[in-house]
Amino acid sequence: MPVVHTTPTDLLDPIEKASRDEITALQIQRLKATLHHVYQNVPHYRQTFDAMGVHPDDLKTLQDLAKFPFTSKKDLRDNYPFGLFAVPQEQVARIHASSGTTGKPTVVGYTASDISHWADLVARSIRAAGGRKGDMIHVSYGYGLFTGGLGAHYGAERLGCTVIPMSGGQTEKQVQLIQDFKPRIIMVTPSYMQVIIEEFVRQGIDPRATSLKIGIFGAEPWTEAMRREIEASAAMDAVDIYGLSEVMGPGVASECVESKDGPVIWEDHFYPEIIHPETGELLPDGEVGELVFTSLTKEAFPVIRYRTRDLTRLLPPTSRAFRRMGKIVGRSDDMLIIRGVNVFPTQIEELVLKHGKLSALYQIVVTREGLLDEVEVLTELQPAEAHLSASDISEIRHWLQGRIKTMVGISARVKVLPPNSVERSLGKSRRVIDQRPKV
Ligand code: DLL
Repeated sequence: MPVVHTTPTDLLDPIEKASRDEITALQIQRLKATLHHVYQNVPHYRQTFDAMGVHPDDLKTLQDLAKFPFTSKKDLRDNYPFGLFAVPQEQVARIHASSGTTGKPTVVGYTASDISHWADLVARSIRAAGGRKGDMIHVSYGYGLFTGGLGAHYGAERLGCTVIPMSGGQTEKQVQLIQDFKPRIIMVTPSYMQVIIEEFVRQGIDPRATSLKIGIFGAEPWTEAMRREIEASAAMDAVDIYGLSEVMGPGVASECVESKDGPVIWEDHFYPEIIHPETGELLPDGEVGELVFTSLTKEAFPVIRYRTRDLTRLLPPTSRAFRRMGKIVGRSDDMLIIRGVNVFPTQIEELVLKHGKLSALYQIVVTREGLLDEVEVLTELQPAEAHLSASDISEIRHWLQGRIKTMVGISARVKVLPPNSVERSLGKSRRVIDQRPKV
């Protein structure tokens, strides 16, 4: 079983051990500076603040932030490509972009100082996961416009680690390099980790016997059931790293290996709020809603009350002085409404993994027949179960259909396919295929 670690407090940044009053004072000071910065340098923010009748000087307490307008993905799209940048282009050291599901990508920029803060925060995240100076880290997040690869890379270097910039894909080679170089840590999406584990097995290598002891997984929702599955099949500690390009990239929040109780939000750089996704009303800590971030130190691309669409809740501090967030339940735009029932792919994942004979790779296909939504859950057997008879398979199918009906409240058709049938991804997985006609 994975070992329980602790982080010696002398390794922590002073602010990770600070009092709430110290954190609040720093947040207010940084919030004021950020509000003034965007008001002076970004016409969009000046207009939206003016339209709501608020001025940066109106912020006296953290609660005052609720008077300021939200920023949404649409604002980024409307200001494509550089309209929300707050510094002249010569001061922008790097650009990243995330491919939107529709239309133009979301473009973000960083000054040299932004990149340095980002590296510090990813280094802090790796340390929270149990990584130390001198560790070798295999990075399988994609390198390029996606923030995963380069974000992880700079943070690993900042901590003083040896980085293998493998990027995504070439699964056989991933396995070969892990076998030959013997990294202790891997940074990758949890779904691609599953694919790498399968490749170990295919090559006759016991995934529990490799050099990997820590996996830092993020960029897509994953469940506690998936954590248990990876920890058991690869004998490693699996910890959660969260982030999004609009706010920075990986390392906005990250989990501590000693508690594994949800990503710690690096509150000295990002101020979190939870709002009701429909009304925009502020919700108290502990209640599930949409996560909203205001950046506190960013120069090139500051964001004010950015609506992430991610659904989670804020939790009290445990292993660090900062608050945590619960594991992401899903995105408000990922939520399926099936005959009136709200369904998140993560709910299905919990059940698929409960069975034991099914692999962690699954897809949910939604179609519409007449006026009714139909859901089909595609699952596959683990390689070791390939020999199961038709009646065994039919039993699994009925079991899962029953669980989905009871636990999620919808009637889904389940297909149990042979091993290796469900689509594999090299990065973020595509869990839902929505074939309903767009209205
Ligand atoms: O996925 C940044 C990242 C890279 C995070 C590597 C962690 C590791 P985007 O491509 O902009 O950036 O996608 C951001 O991915 O709003 C969430 O919906 C989802 N997401 C990211 N991390 C997690 C996580 C990167 N740990 C979007 N759990 C976010 C659940 C996550 N969802």
